[in-house]
Amino acid sequence: MNNFESHPILKIKDLTTCLKVGHEEWTVVDRLSFNLYRGKTLALVGESGCGKSLAALSIMGILPQPPALPSTGEILYRDKSLLTLSEKEMRAIRGSKIAMIFQDPMSALNPVFTIGNQLIEVAELHLGLFGDEAWDRAKQALEDVGISNAEERLSCYPHQLSGGLKQRVMIAMALMCEPDVLIADEPTTALDVTIQAQVLDLIRQLQKKNGMALLLITHDMGVVSEMADEVIVMYLAQGIEHGGVNELLDLPLHPYTVGLFQSRPSLENQKGQLKPIAGQVPLFKHIPKGCRFHPRCPYAMDKCRKGIVPVFHPDSLQHYTKCWLYDGSDESQEGRERLSQEKI
Ligand SMILES: Nc1ncnc2c1ncn2[C@@H]1O[C@H](COP(=O)(O)OP(=O)(O)OP(=O)(O)O)[C@@H](O)[C@H]1O
Ligand SMILES: [Mg+2]
Repeated sequence: MNNFESHPILKIKDLTTCLKVGHEEWTVVDRLSFNLYRGKTLALVGESGCGKSLAALSIMGILPQPPALPSTGEILYRDKSLLTLSEKEMRAIRGSKIAMIFQDPMSALNPVFTIGNQLIEVAELHLGLFGDEAWDRAKQALEDVGISNAEERLSCYPHQLSGGLKQRVMIAMALMCEPDVLIADEPTTALDVTIQAQVLDLIRQLQKKNGMALLLITHDMGVVSEMADEVIVMYLAQGIEHGGVNELLDLPLHPYTVGLFQSRPSLENQKGQLKPIAGQVPLFKHIPKGCRFHPRCPYAMDKCRKGIVPVFHPDSLQHYTKCWLYDGSDESQEGRERLSQEKI
């Protein structure tokens, strides 16, 4: 596992983002830390509303402000501190060095310009291509994501395309610049299986060719097991487990992760979607003290109800969890045994 030793292309440390809602402040991304490496994929998974998209928007520096407040912590891209850059400096990186595929395609497409205009602008701005060359590159980008009558599509406006086509145009736009880092937020959910495979293939090709690093946000465990090298599990704004994909899928540690992965219909084909776990996800205005998962956790102990949960590495340095069951104490032994029964 030498990817953990090599130099990260993107280093995220204690990334924190708050929303100001009325008189309240909700921390929707809470001290999230991870590294992205050349040619590698990190998957970010967790139930709806846990803060995955806001984490992605924080990295891109395009949070909706208001309600978001400026992010804190550290984002280092090739050792450059992104949170301290001016908007102008950030614009030079965004789209060309760090690109994003949005969960909602319309947040990337401008309704008043044709698809061609928008793709050609990217070719001009980020690739320095003009005239026929820019047009050809735009056409090629559409063909790369499986759009057949590309020439015709270039003169369409976004509203003339179906949801799946809009999604593919946005993917084409993000991949066209061959970015160093791609943040893909549910990139293939709106696509049918064949196109999904084609898009994932294209992403993998770029990873091989240019060493593109990928942060992949998805609910699809099939996609995780196919694409990811590492996985982070998020719960209520916090990363609660992080490890290599095989370790994490085969030997999940946190009771939340165990519950999340159990819903897969079969470990063999891993085509299941993540399903919610029993109990309600608390609202951000009612965040539980201690471990945030404790009200839903069948193994909760007294110490889980207060304070910050430390990081434990029960198996290997590369696999950690924030869960008291792994503190090595006699008290947690019983819960750990019950949990391992659950995993079988
Ligand atoms: N503009 C906004 N105003 C108020 N609350 C917001 C806004 N955007 C997001 N939130 C809240 O912040 C939290 C995190 O949202 P986020 O979109 O990051 O979740 P997510 O993990 O991407 O969910 P999903 O899997 O459904 O995409 C949610 O509780 C959401 O309701
Ligand atoms: Mg989201």
